[in-house]
Amino acid sequence: METQRKALLAATLAALAIHAQAAPDTSVGNKQGFNTDVIYQIVTDRLSDGNSANNPTGSAFSSGCTQKKLFCGGDWKGIQNKIEDGYLTGMGITAIWISQPVENITAVLNYSGTNSTAYHGYWARDFKRANPAFGTMTDFTNMINAAHARNIKVIIDFAPNHTSPASASDTTFGENGKLYDNGVLLAGYGSDPNGYFHHNGGTDFSTLESGIYRNLFDLADLNHNNATVDGYMKAAIKMWLDLGIDGIRMDAVKHMPFGWQKSLMSYIQGYKPVFTFGEWYLSENEVDPANHYFANRSGMSLLDFQFAQKVRQVFKDGSANMTSLNQMVSDTAGQYAHVGDQVTFIDNHDMPRFQVAGASGRKLEQALAFTLTSRGVPAIYYGTEQYMQGTGDPDNRAMMTSFATTTPAYGLVARLAPLRKSNPAIAYGSTQQRWVNNDVLIYERNFGNNVAVVAINRNLSTATSISGFIAGLPAGSYTDVLNGLGFNGNSITVGANGAVGNFTLAAGAIAVWQYTATVASPKLGHVGPNMSMPGKTVTIDGRGFGATKGTVKFGSTVVSGANILSWEDTQVKVLVPSVAAGMSGVSIVTAGAVTSDSWDNFEILSGPQVTVRFVVGNATTVSGENVYLTGDKFELTNWSATAPLGPLFNQVVYSYPNWYTDVSVPAGTTLSYKFLKKSANPTVWEGGSNHTFTTPASGTATVNVNWQP
Ligand code: NOJ
Ligand code: NOJ
Ligand code: CA
Ligand code: CA
Repeated sequence: METQRKALLAATLAALAIHAQAAPDTSVGNKQGFNTDVIYQIVTDRLSDGNSANNPTGSAFSSGCTQKKLFCGGDWKGIQNKIEDGYLTGMGITAIWISQPVENITAVLNYSGTNSTAYHGYWARDFKRANPAFGTMTDFTNMINAAHARNIKVIIDFAPNHTSPASASDTTFGENGKLYDNGVLLAGYGSDPNGYFHHNGGTDFSTLESGIYRNLFDLADLNHNNATVDGYMKAAIKMWLDLGIDGIRMDAVKHMPFGWQKSLMSYIQGYKPVFTFGEWYLSENEVDPANHYFANRSGMSLLDFQFAQKVRQVFKDGSANMTSLNQMVSDTAGQYAHVGDQVTFIDNHDMPRFQVAGASGRKLEQALAFTLTSRGVPAIYYGTEQYMQGTGDPDNRAMMTSFATTTPAYGLVARLAPLRKSNPAIAYGSTQQRWVNNDVLIYERNFGNNVAVVAINRNLSTATSISGFIAGLPAGSYTDVLNGLGFNGNSITVGANGAVGNFTLAAGAIAVWQYTATVASPKLGHVGPNMSMPGKTVTIDGRGFGATKGTVKFGSTVVSGANILSWEDTQVKVLVPSVAAGMSGVSIVTAGAVTSDSWDNFEILSGPQVTVRFVVGNATTVSGENVYLTGDKFELTNWSATAPLGPLFNQVVYSYPNWYTDVSVPAGTTLSYKFLKKSANPTVWEGGSNHTFTTPASGTATVNVNWQP
């Protein structure tokens, strides 16, 4: 009890200190945004065992990895070895995404007769300690240093939704979801006097609300509305940021309150801005506006499941055609405000591996080529370049089978990955379709005068005659970038006005033609992070900014002088000015007074944020009517009656006619707000005067009012 109280106090003090400090500069040589990178996704336990001394023992370990739900020995030293022996850099990899590094449970759980362990890293017990099965903190920083020395960025998986499996009725199951703060027990799922966990029952995916506030499977679900949990998670991620990580893959974002995640992102982007992308699983053909809203307004982007599922349908399963692939590209360009920030992939640890037994490897190669040359940030799952197979968890997470650098897929990635740095059309460009039928897609990427054109014929037995193909390339002859690697591409000759001489695209061909040129007038490639606040650093990547310092505009507000931290031809770092919170455009003006294009939908918050739960009681509605929230701050939609926050939830934490929502709002600020009822009928506002509430400087709060008729 005494230790618990001390831990509480420590966590509270840590939460108070959070907004005050600045992060150390751990920037690496590879400093352009992630659009120029190729990520390699590693299940840490499954790449390479660099130190057998740290391997779990007894029933937790499987020698030879024959039992894939047990630990198999992979660790950070093994990853470091693969960085240092050139396997990753030889493939053109410039970023790695590793399993959640935090200390996990060591218990071996038995599910229907199968022993299961935390080899995957998703069963945390102490978010402030390193997982000893993966190495020591020194091993971790050694790996980071080795990566940075070779211009490789390091992304960690982070899973603040839950701790480990727990049973509501049997506290002896596993480790009862116990959460520790640097070794000090905070609570267990069965002994949780301070409400650090949700106790709302298990999985129910029928509504977004249930998915958030009930347990995901049997994983002890953390209550982020609790100030200790909130402060603990912010302090934990600060610790990993201070160790020099360059990015975060946020687990299970569909299962945590949007408002809490936005306040977490405001903290991260205000402390040390790093590229952060969430995991929101979408099934084949699933298109979810809530997923788009999350990517557009949370301050993080998402793994692009719409992209991945369609690529698998088209190239792996043959259940959709090239027209449908092209349609996905244009649909997502409209749905995601920053489509280039979404992380693209063809397989991962939660889906069957792309390579199917007996299938031609060319399908996988085409899917990879499409991903590496499309908008977004490509991530390649370890072993995909070795054509590893495995139809589901855990067979899709086998020990790495080979580190051969001679496979066609390895050669393909090695040839295409560097284009993301050398040709900004691939990193940043727009996309247009140039020629399409069921089996062939030719598309073009453009950025200023830079061009890349990609042709793929997914029919492995029939060639296609290409005529009437116009490309945005200057007149001349173009050799296929993949020439000599055996992917059956061809050269093309471009005449006046982009008319390409007729040619035959071979069966199964992949061809890439490209043109690079100096961008004379300033052009924006990327602004990151996409959400920030006054006084915080934003990085602008692009071309043609000039060598001499100019100015940056946020809307019509001009930033100049010392508020521009650095200025190079391809990158500018700037402090966000004190402007009204809202969605803004960003542009740069060169020293020669030439203004760039505008980067739209850049979100400027009012300032540091806290999460507040707004609860309204006794708000009865008619069928089809829901309750919403609005108020006097941008974070509360500036009194919008047409697009207020909501609909509010009314089933799990509170029940109808009581409604609630967790919102990221400015800290230490007096808010005015009201609830409203909306349906097909005219909007019904609450009567009476506005509610007011002064938010805390840190931590969380709940406000509870009754509907004012
Ligand atoms: C999604 C992860 O990708 C999956 O592997 C994991 O089991 C769940 N989230 C829970 O952490
Ligand atoms: C087993 C999966 O392998 C793991 O990823 C997931 O976290 C658990 N199921 C959830 O209990
Ligand atoms: Ca090991
Ligand atoms: Ca949850």
